[in-house]
Amino acid sequence: MERSDIRCTDLLGHFVCGDRCEVMRQIPDNTVHLIATSPPYNCGKDYGTVSDKLPWETYWMQTREWLAEALRVTTQGGRLAVNLPWWMGKKPRRDVPYELQKTALEVGWTKLDKILWVKGDEKNIHTSGGYGGNGSGWGTYLSPSGPAIRCASEPILIFAKGGRGRRVLSGEGRGLCVRGDMTKAEWMEWTMDVWFVRGASNGAHPAVWPAEIPRRLIKLYTYPGDVVLDPHNGSGTTTETAKQLGRQWIGIDANPAYCPNGEAQRPAVAGTLPPLVGSSEVPK
Ligand SMILES: C[S@@+](CC[C@H](N)C(=O)[O-])C[C@H]1O[C@@H](n2cnc3c(N)ncnc32)[C@H](O)[C@@H]1O
Repeated sequence: MERSDIRCTDLLGHFVCGDRCEVMRQIPDNTVHLIATSPPYNCGKDYGTVSDKLPWETYWMQTREWLAEALRVTTQGGRLAVNLPWWMGKKPRRDVPYELQKTALEVGWTKLDKILWVKGDEKNIHTSGGYGGNGSGWGTYLSPSGPAIRCASEPILIFAKGGRGRRVLSGEGRGLCVRGDMTKAEWMEWTMDVWFVRGASNGAHPAVWPAEIPRRLIKLYTYPGDVVLDPHNGSGTTTETAKQLGRQWIGIDANPAYCPNGEAQRPAVAGTLPPLVGSSEVPK
């Protein structure tokens, strides 16, 4: 399917309330350039309409299902960025990035990169205990008997559909890839695998990610005019950021309370897709 066929969907520019798989089934094949998302952590948050405390096997069965649907809608060379916790549960303690990567590879995604998101800056790392060194692990305090390590970071796993990258060519010479809209300083900072970004919270949602995370992912992996999807859009951080950056977007969330009416009922934007940045795009 050609890039412009995304115009077929009237979901473009909408924050849609519903189950991620059911809604994604309405999106044509090979039309989304980046899926940037933070799925439920299965840690008992109150999301209203869906459980955040599923049995381990059910959680991964459902994850496999949305990862497969996500792969179908992604364009060749398009990317998936998933932010998750390191661990689920205590007894046993389960390794989430390991399981996510295994599942993603099984459904056909290609492994690309792993980013360590550290919540804070180098001097003030954020744990739930706060900033400025107040937070630490506990366990057996000051004793090597059984120290507990507390999470002040989260992984962001990056995958691609098909090969390693996208080649959007300028048409001025073979292999000349069109630049995106990153500055040199952004490129230098964001292509390192450690990102220091302070966590966020708002009154509208129990588990938001800071807009700086989707901002980096969107500018790093898409061109202006590309299509960005978040199937766990929550309070809309990803799609709001995509809109501000001049990308096309689709947001999905199961809880209608998170879908602002103004967005959900916006008329479709079919036919308004900006022209391609480069003259041709070929899978790498
Ligand atoms: C970690 S939150 C995402 C928060 C978002 N990044 C933000 O900044 O607001 C996960 C979201 O997934 C949604 N969710 C859970 N299961 C879902 C499903 N089956 N289909 C669609 N959304 C779902 C929850 O309602 C919740 O808003």
